Amino acid sequence: MSSDPRDQFSRPLRDLRISVTDRCNFRCPYCMPKEVFGADHAFLKDPQLVSLPELVRIVGAFRKLGVEKVRLTGGEPLLRVDLPYFVKVLKQDLGVPDVALTTNGWLLQKHAASLSEAGLDRLNVSVDSLDETKAGKMNGLGFKVSRVLAGIDTAAAQGLPVKINCVVQKGINDGEILALCDYFRQRGHSLRFIEFMDVGNTNHWSPEQVVPALAIIAEVHQKWPIEPVSPAYRGEVASRYRYTDGKGEIGIISSVTEPFCKDCHRARLSADGQLFTCLFAAKGHDVLGTLRKGANDEELSEYIANIWRGRHDRYSDERAELIAKKEPRVKVEMSYIGG
Ligand code: GTP
Ligand code: 5AD
Ligand code: SF4
Ligand code: SF4
Repeated sequence: MSSDPRDQFSRPLRDLRISVTDRCNFRCPYCMPKEVFGADHAFLKDPQLVSLPELVRIVGAFRKLGVEKVRLTGGEPLLRVDLPYFVKVLKQDLGVPDVALTTNGWLLQKHAASLSEAGLDRLNVSVDSLDETKAGKMNGLGFKVSRVLAGIDTAAAQGLPVKINCVVQKGINDGEILALCDYFRQRGHSLRFIEFMDVGNTNHWSPEQVVPALAIIAEVHQKWPIEPVSPAYRGEVASRYRYTDGKGEIGIISSVTEPFCKDCHRARLSADGQLFTCLFAAKGHDVLGTLRKGANDEELSEYIANIWRGRHDRYSDERAELIAKKEPRVKVEMSYIGG
């Protein structure tokens, strides 16, 4: 039936973010605090995970509905050993125009070449601090940022476009904004500052810990003047600014102070095949169960299209109101749903 469904606010379905595993080798306190995601945490077991052939059928169904971009996330997606093969299938068999990866970069030195050969279009790597002690605290386990930076160099040497994600937390790494700009502008990578968000239920978020986008922009502008760049496409998550000296650009992801729900065209698939229509949703829809019950390709697409047509999520637009009314929501964890 419908090949290009619209949701309740006329938003199309264009991006699919797939969490290929809910596991991670880091324990960033803003995402998977180690006190919560410790030895006794119930991670998904193998039979619950979507297998590769199942993923291929599911992505095929999304492609029929207008999906053009697939982003692989986690947890940490490079923990999944069949990832390069999946990238190859997405590019060659399913013809996905834009296949991207979001990673913490720890395993990048090892896998950059095979990802590039598989046809990966680009990747986003998290770097919250250039200082080893602080970076170690921000990944929860003392892992060295120098290894992540070496992974970024390896990926860039393979010709892969790299963007950097930095979650800014007041009093933790907001003193490093200019140092990060300096480092990445010298290397030609776009650095995106992300406002700390209230994802999941365990990161002890409070509005006081958010450094507003405007403050970040003002700080950078004072040192290296910047000017806004028009979005590359409608609904781009980051607002982009170019340095007027021609040395590259930065991005700001301001989900808290300037939400971008109006044009949100992203669906999320968890590693156990549940479809979430918002990063802050409480509940998913069982796409994998529908497939395993025997739905054919047509039925699978129609199942997804119907969910999309009913969608009315706009959590970031409503956040302030919900907080003021003291109506906290139980949300899905970000490591499970994939950012
Ligand atoms: P590009 O295609 O390179 O622009 O990637 P992206 O920014 O969409 O993806 P990435 O995985 O690098 O995410 C960067 C940050 O944006 C993360 O903190 C995500 O959680 C956040 N983000 C991505 N999509 C959404 C969204 O739909 N809503 C909200 N609130 N945050 C999002
Ligand atoms: N707020 C903002 N961004 C977050 N990320 C993880 N947790 C949060 C949070 N609470 C970012 C990671 C990664 C991306 C997938 O999401 O740093 O870059
Ligand atoms: Fe792992 Fe990324 Fe979450 Fe950090 S933000 S714990 S690297 S999934
Ligand atoms: Fe989309 Fe939900 Fe993020 Fe708004 S909060 S941009 S609806 S994922």
